[in-house]
Amino acid sequence: MGESMLSSPDDLKSLSVQTQKAMAKKRSAFICSNCGRRSSGYFGRCPQCGEFESMVEHVEEAPKSRAHSQASSGVQRKPLRLEAVGPGEEDRLPVPMGEFNRVLGGGLVPGSLVLLGGEPGVGKSTLVIELAALLAESAGNVLYVSGEESASQIKMRAERMGLSARDLFLLTETDLGNIFDQISALDPVLVVIDSIQTTHTAELNSSPGLVAQVRECALRLQSLAKDSGVSVLMIGHVTKDGNIAGPRALEHIVDTVLYLEGDPFQQYRLLRSVKNRFGATSELGVFEMRGRGMAQVENPSQVFLEERVVQASGSAIAITMEGTRPLLVEMQALTSPTSFGNPRRTPNGVDINRLLLISAVLSKVIGLKLWEQDIFVNVIGGIRISEPASDLAMAVAIASSYYDRPAPADLAIVGEVGLSGEIRRVGQLSMRLNEARKIGFKRVLVPRLGGNADEIPPGIQLLQARNLSGALREVFSTD
Ligand SMILES: Nc1ncnc2c1ncn2[C@@H]1O[C@H](COP(=O)(O)OP(=O)(O)OP(=O)(O)O)[C@@H](O)[C@H]1O
Ligand SMILES: [Mg+2]
Repeated sequence: MGESMLSSPDDLKSLSVQTQKAMAKKRSAFICSNCGRRSSGYFGRCPQCGEFESMVEHVEEAPKSRAHSQASSGVQRKPLRLEAVGPGEEDRLPVPMGEFNRVLGGGLVPGSLVLLGGEPGVGKSTLVIELAALLAESAGNVLYVSGEESASQIKMRAERMGLSARDLFLLTETDLGNIFDQISALDPVLVVIDSIQTTHTAELNSSPGLVAQVRECALRLQSLAKDSGVSVLMIGHVTKDGNIAGPRALEHIVDTVLYLEGDPFQQYRLLRSVKNRFGATSELGVFEMRGRGMAQVENPSQVFLEERVVQASGSAIAITMEGTRPLLVEMQALTSPTSFGNPRRTPNGVDINRLLLISAVLSKVIGLKLWEQDIFVNVIGGIRISEPASDLAMAVAIASSYYDRPAPADLAIVGEVGLSGEIRRVGQLSMRLNEARKIGFKRVLVPRLGGNADEIPPGIQLLQARNLSGALREVFSTD
């Protein structure tokens, strides 16, 4: 649905005369998002600038007199001195689900608008119904509005997950006006909208899911949240390229944007915050999809390393930071002679550009004949690593597969590789080292430290390397 944000030119033809008249009565207008041309009817192609599918519907309200605008909102807001604003306006509502709490930055802020995106079937509804039931038990009424599933479907899911909460209310509704009526009748602490793409307001004529509808509904939910203090969690679909469907503006309107991601063939699901007005971004929560719902994974490093085969060549342990959380993950590499044509580089969980860079440095600086090898790199657990601090682990995994020599089993690796083969320092070293120690690693290969040796926790032996050849020497001569 996300792809068809804008009406096709054919949609215009299908509009009946009555509909066109109804549009006129509602004083809705179409404005070209490219050149600003205003028109009372929809054009597939802007008659002024010629841009296709750029006309977006807006509701035009008659200009209000000052008296009218004061009366309609009931309150006239006045500027406040910063110091006059009372404290504790962001008292958080702790969510009884540690991993969700972590990603939100310590709890749900009353009056905040949260957007949760994810691919179809990744488990958005499953995660949110569980959150809703837990909050209903601990904090008060929760309203779960679904425009996608019937109440009995949701009930079946809740039963399968063993959830029962007296104060969890279900509403199958897509009309925002009706949803608002129910919210004011129920006075919940949290409203879940599943999903924002199926919700629509009767004041716009466009179909649910189209840009104007999605944006308008989000704006109204935002002002509802800010005015009444109820927290709103909207579920959003993602497009094929992985962005939340709808205008980019949707991400600007909301306070927090979370993504639920995961390989459909793996049981792990990662909840990531990409924007948070109330906490750190890139925070990561880890869940496991089970028959009874989403189980929290409180020690992901341990879990990701559980199936590791020690003394296998082509494997190295990286210590990466996901937000404020250090994670130990296994990186596997396989080099195999190219049968014909160009050698292939196949990354899974790492950026192709980092893989190309590391292979080029290994060839040029270390002299590995990688130009005649296909290289596959895989990060175990469905994690995607974007941090350059895991470069060195990738280089060690590739070299280990190429030499067919395993890296030591008790060695974890951290460091960024530069273009001339130098190993660069990385941030938050002591947190990474502490995590390695907690999981039982004894040695960590790190970039050469300057004067900050005080960061090293006791019980960890550091192997320091200034460049890639030094690093490989340390790894393959220490066993
Ligand atoms: N009986 C079951 N046992 C185990 N897992 C199940 C069962 N039924 C559904 N699932 C899992 O739940 C997933 C669907 O979860 P959910 O409906 O929460 O996804 P969603 O992200 O909300 O999808 P959509 O975008 O379609 O709304 C399925 O992909 C499946 O893995
Ligand atoms: Mg769903």
